[in-house]
Amino acid sequence: MVLVGYFITFEGVEGCGKTTQIKLLWEFLTARGAVVHLTREPGGCPIADKIRAILLDAENKAMAPLAELMLYASARAQHVSEVIAPALTSGNIVLCDRFFDATVAYQCFGRGLERDIITVMNDLACQGTTPDLTILVDCDPLIGLSRARKRIEASQGPREERFELEAMAFHQRVRAGYLHLAAENPSRFVVINGDDSIEAIFATISQHVIQRLPEELRVIC
Ligand code: TMP
Repeated sequence: MVLVGYFITFEGVEGCGKTTQIKLLWEFLTARGAVVHLTREPGGCPIADKIRAILLDAENKAMAPLAELMLYASARAQHVSEVIAPALTSGNIVLCDRFFDATVAYQCFGRGLERDIITVMNDLACQGTTPDLTILVDCDPLIGLSRARKRIEASQGPREERFELEAMAFHQRVRAGYLHLAAENPSRFVVINGDDSIEAIFATISQHVIQRLPEELRVIC
């Protein structure tokens, strides 16, 4: 399958502000006439959304790390084949709130699973679909988690807080994992300081995106 669109992923610890930024980018690109799919992981399609509910349910405290990894991979396999790959094949832009880097940051650096096992699962699930650009909104988990907890308290829906309940040391490892991934993949990652204002962060992100979009997609900006 030839992927001709452009695939941008957003990553970061809980409450880093990536979801606000991805929505702003969707509005920005859509207003300029691009066909942009905004999606997220885990989830992004009905089957993967059902897996999301299992993964984030705080009652599932007993979930084994390997079972967790396989559920993320299953959700991703469905999401890639049903949503992401077809959109890219059609030449569209895809914005995804978390993708395979999250599995390395959370299941490898956070949970301590072997990197090789995660690589195999990610490769199986993605079938060659790789982000062109990954925006890492870097933020101290102390600040991010307090924001994330406020959001959960205010939300009317199911309490998706299994990860927010993890110890601070877990979130520090996740942050370190993301920074490690960014250093390993400097041409794909852009690291943004999540402490800046929403406007300043978005100005930086939109600049990077405009510069990097391929010629045929860039004309719309
Ligand atoms: P969200 O809060 O950004 O919607 O993400 C859901 C949670 O799932 C978040 O705590 C990070 C976690 N996660 C993983 O542990 N591994 C993964 O592969 C993905 C995509 C998310």
